[in-house]
Amino acid sequence: MRLKIYKQQFLFCLFSLLLSSPAIAQTIIPIESSTNALVLQADKNNELAIIYFGMKLSNPAEYAQIAGASRQANDFSRMLNAAYTPSGTKNVMEPAITVIHADGNTSLDLRYVDQTVAQTDENVKLYTINLKDPVYPFSVKLHYKVYSKEDIIEQWSVISHEENTEVSLHKFASANLYLKADEFWLNQYHGDWAREMNPEMSKLTHGIKTLDSKLGTRANLLQPSVFMIGIGEEPQEDAGSVLYGAMEWSGNFRIDLELDFQDNLRIIAGMNNYASTYALQPNEEFETPKFLYLLSHNGKGEASRKLHSWAREYKLLDGKGDRLTLLNNWEATYFNFNEEKLFKLLKDASDLGVDLFLLDDGWFANKYPRNSDRSGLGDWQVNKTKLPNGVGSLVKEARKNDVKFGIWIEPEMVQPKSELYENHPDWVIKQPKREEHYFRNQLVLDLSNPEVQDFVFKVVDDLFTENPELAYIKWDCNSVIYNANSEYLENQSHLYIEYVRGLYNVLERVRAKYPTVPMMLCSGGGGRVDYAALQYFTEFWPSDNTDPLERIYMQWEYSHFYPAISTANHVTEWGRQPLKFRVDVAMMGKLGFDIVVHELEDNDLKFCQDALKNYNEIKPIIWYGDLYRLADPKENSVASLMYVDDDKESGVIFSYLVNNRYGAGSKLPIRLKGLDPDKQYSITEINIYPGRRTRIDGKNSYSGEYLMTIGFNPEVSARRASVVCEITVVE
Ligand code: GLA
Repeated sequence: MRLKIYKQQFLFCLFSLLLSSPAIAQTIIPIESSTNALVLQADKNNELAIIYFGMKLSNPAEYAQIAGASRQANDFSRMLNAAYTPSGTKNVMEPAITVIHADGNTSLDLRYVDQTVAQTDENVKLYTINLKDPVYPFSVKLHYKVYSKEDIIEQWSVISHEENTEVSLHKFASANLYLKADEFWLNQYHGDWAREMNPEMSKLTHGIKTLDSKLGTRANLLQPSVFMIGIGEEPQEDAGSVLYGAMEWSGNFRIDLELDFQDNLRIIAGMNNYASTYALQPNEEFETPKFLYLLSHNGKGEASRKLHSWAREYKLLDGKGDRLTLLNNWEATYFNFNEEKLFKLLKDASDLGVDLFLLDDGWFANKYPRNSDRSGLGDWQVNKTKLPNGVGSLVKEARKNDVKFGIWIEPEMVQPKSELYENHPDWVIKQPKREEHYFRNQLVLDLSNPEVQDFVFKVVDDLFTENPELAYIKWDCNSVIYNANSEYLENQSHLYIEYVRGLYNVLERVRAKYPTVPMMLCSGGGGRVDYAALQYFTEFWPSDNTDPLERIYMQWEYSHFYPAISTANHVTEWGRQPLKFRVDVAMMGKLGFDIVVHELEDNDLKFCQDALKNYNEIKPIIWYGDLYRLADPKENSVASLMYVDDDKESGVIFSYLVNNRYGAGSKLPIRLKGLDPDKQYSITEINIYPGRRTRIDGKNSYSGEYLMTIGFNPEVSARRASVVCEITVVE
């Protein structure tokens, strides 16, 4: 984050351009990206509305006519399309903001004052629009950060006032949007532990559909904030208009999708106001998190590719950097290990050929040793029985084996059976007069408290100070917040918000001192990923469910929103598929292993070693290339997707059998995408299991036109349930 800010400040100095336009009757503000325009209009009363969001026009003067072009039911309030909908005056729909003023009055009116535009670099512009209440000294600044090439807008608000005493904020959305079309289709996601990211499609009907979380920490466990809206029709892969949306916030969120009586769609997105009334002091600025949205007119495929390249360029930590393949010991040992066992696994890591060994849960706590998930969380001292020579001895042994060393922590959590809990009961989120409730036998530390923030920072800092060679951290977060109450805060309804702010403070400090060391964002599976958190993490753990068949579906869904370089996939013993299938599936992202390598059959070991070599060759294409989804596992017997490099010269095609019916397989060729129609390509199968032969003739050459019109058959069948092919331009 900090690094990015410096970079931006530097660019800002180079390109800074500040425009200002005072309010005049009918001010039109076209917020344009390479393809789209979000057009705002302030009328003669300075009421600011969204008059259009869609493909941009070459003559901006024509935007003024749009408002008069629809013949819909009368809106006497003239507020359905407000740019930021206040409540308590004439609004009768879901508001973006609701307040109680210092004098107890509940009305808010927001009028356009002026705007500024700052060009950060040739691709990024920040629009700031000032709104003020004509009666109360209360203002809102709307921010729109536009990434032109990627057609992405990040929108957020800054709320402040100069009233005599505090103002209560009851709702404080980041943004509201307004879309017009005949129909709207929502594709949302739901899940739970080990079954994350299940898509669900529905046609939006009149009234409000809310996507939200009240879990406090691992907020995405049951429902993530990512969603898409098919505009006019169901979202399609390569055609049609689709809007992607996501909150950049790692705590409670709320997204209201309201189809109003004019049949238009209002989207109101922000932090969840559930149990979170915020007492805003005079002159304090309340900055909402960013709501990210992207409008594509060429379907989900284009939207994903734009989002991926934006993420690598602007958000994901070290998005264009390297990643480490690894061997994790979690499923190999669980809590049951000692130095000798780990030394053996370190040698395994070296034999396998991965970059790093990752020591998982169970290495810490003495009074209440972490020998199961029932005790020890919070006591981050190395367990002397299991590891009498400390972590340092493991790091040294890793060096001997020529692998790097990484470690698991879950620093936001505490267990009642821990010295931390005994010494600092006041640091724990719990209700003083009520019985405790546990999630995985644990409780959450109160990160709103700066002392607790120092403690969590120190957990990380001590590990690095004591082990300067430490090369990786897996940062876990297994509990939700029950019994939300802080000993530290005076105002309990600030806790959900201050928790996340406290977490970001710690992560800022970690990144200021350790800017690029890779860290995995894990949350008892995939309960936490979002683009605010990913500013601090190089990758995330999509799910504890590593059954490769399940992962084909899950990774497919995650791929709509997150690039492959950020998706950590491990080969484990989950599922019934052969090792080759498991490895092939894990390769579609950031590859890792969590198996007992020294127990592998010779051929299995050889296969893994060769697959790692292949991976090292093709990983730049997977990590930095463009993703094309070819055959959807939900609709076909075969799932297939490919990555293509920028020059359209090389790519990788992954294909899997996802149906066990007799004769299932790739009966017809699968049309490839993203190639140059005029170039000639050859296709070679890789990751071939020792002793097996390929059915693909690598000497054949095909034009890009042929492959995109007729297709290519990877020959997937029950005998060839997973097939990985490299595609390369031939001279
Ligand atoms: C969570 C993680 C797992 C593992 C365990 C350790 O469930 O998702 O990968 O690290 O914790 O307790």
